[in-house]
Amino acid sequence: MSVGAVVPATGVGLPPQAAPSVAGNDLMRFVLGVDAEFAHTAYQLLGDTIIFIHTFVPEALRGRGLAMTIVRSALQASRSRGLKVVPRCPVFRAYMTGHPETHDLLAPEGLALLGHQAVS
Ligand SMILES: CC(C)(COP(=O)(O)OP(=O)(O)OC[C@H]1O[C@@H](n2cnc3c(N)ncnc32)[C@H](O)[C@@H]1OP(=O)(O)O)[C@@H](O)C(=O)NCCC(=O)NCCS
Repeated sequence: MSVGAVVPATGVGLPPQAAPSVAGNDLMRFVLGVDAEFAHTAYQLLGDTIIFIHTFVPEALRGRGLAMTIVRSALQASRSRGLKVVPRCPVFRAYMTGHPETHDLLAPEGLALLGHQAVS
């Protein structure tokens, strides 16, 4: 299995299976190429907030930690860009619940999604 780097993508040139089923021109993705297939996570940017919406790994590649690789990279990219995170995608919620060191990234909606009180 040849795993590439997790890279941002606008969707141009992506194969159909990498396209999220969410409509909207402002949807962007982090994409991870594995052999000839693509795993991705879709997000929207709203000011300095990044909303993670959906994560997809092709069926044949599941259960190998690829989703977690994308989540970790996407959260690192969010941190380095100073973005606050809303993990609407359940895969992000599962990862962040198990990794309290990522909780400083949470926007108020993200804190609520993880069951935390927002600090006012
Ligand atoms: C969910 C999905 C992205 C997982 O991909 P994967 O590469 O097999 O996942 P990984 O091997 O990296 O990680 C598996 C972890 O994700 C968790 N996970 C799997 N599916 C999940 C889900 N729907 N919601 C939350 N967490 C999930 C598992 O509990 C597992 O955690 P563990 O290792 O602590 O037990 C993949 O099965 C998929 O594309 N499914 C169809 C689309 C989908 O349901 N996306 C999620 C909702 S947006």
